[in-house]
Amino acid sequence: MTETVLTMSSVEAGYGGGLVLQGVDLQVDKGTITCIVGPNGAGKSTVFRVISGLLKPKNGTVTFGGRDIGGLSPSEILKSGIAQVPQNRALFPEMSVHENVLLGGYAIRRDRALLKERLAMVEEMVPLVKDRAKEHAGNLSGGQRRMVEIGRALMLDPRVVLMDEPSLGLDPKSVAKVAEVIRDMAAEGRTVLMVEQNVRLGMNLATHGVVMEQGQVRLVGDAQDIADNPEVASMYLGKTGHNA
Ligand SMILES: Nc1ncnc2c1ncn2[C@@H]1O[C@H](COP(=O)(O)OP(=O)(O)O)[C@@H](O)[C@H]1O
Ligand SMILES: [Mg+2]
Repeated sequence: MTETVLTMSSVEAGYGGGLVLQGVDLQVDKGTITCIVGPNGAGKSTVFRVISGLLKPKNGTVTFGGRDIGGLSPSEILKSGIAQVPQNRALFPEMSVHENVLLGGYAIRRDRALLKERLAMVEEMVPLVKDRAKEHAGNLSGGQRRMVEIGRALMLDPRVVLMDEPSLGLDPKSVAKVAEVIRDMAAEGRTVLMVEQNVRLGMNLATHGVVMEQGQVRLVGDAQDIADNPEVASMYLGKTGHNA
């Protein structure tokens, strides 16, 4: 039985006076991996900014678990169960892996028992968090840093995880590891919404696909159907992204 966790309905949003999102409709079901693809500037990251509350929609509604979250602050949205692994890297290089991950649990820092429980959960999902706990984040490879970023995002036990171009700049081995964690998250019943430049990679990992262009959703469907769609193929499959 499908259960919708996240919806966007006729969402318009932009920066300053201009509109980037021009009526975005999106429905994301529980436990799925939904991958958004589309050319640079299509508005993919802007969709994430709206969902995570960093950008207020000018029109339209965003719901999470049936509740309208369009007016909530980023910290309220985070606490309600949506975490984002951002596109721009955001670890503190001088801090240890452990300290960086603990920052993800800032909202529950006073509940020691819960914090400990969450850390244990994250260490199980992302073993590097334990294995390299004392290492400065700045000493890690790009792939290792991505794993720490994922671990940090999991500290509040989010029901929805937003991942903006998780494979960007990573070598194939690291990409495979990131893909494995994404599959693990979905297998646990979490919902993953990701943006990926590399259509083939994204659709292989995802269950559902969304094609965006010029601030609108052009196409939705099963990931494999999106990957096999000749129109999408001619639009995007020639493009290998930054890391193919
Ligand atoms: N902080 C910002 N201020 C002004 N314009 C922005 C900002 N971020 C993105 N944009 C513009 O919004 C459009 C969509 O950007 P974005 O959502 O980042 O696209 P995508 O992630 O699909 O590449 C682009 O034209 C971009 O230049
Ligand atoms: Mg982007």
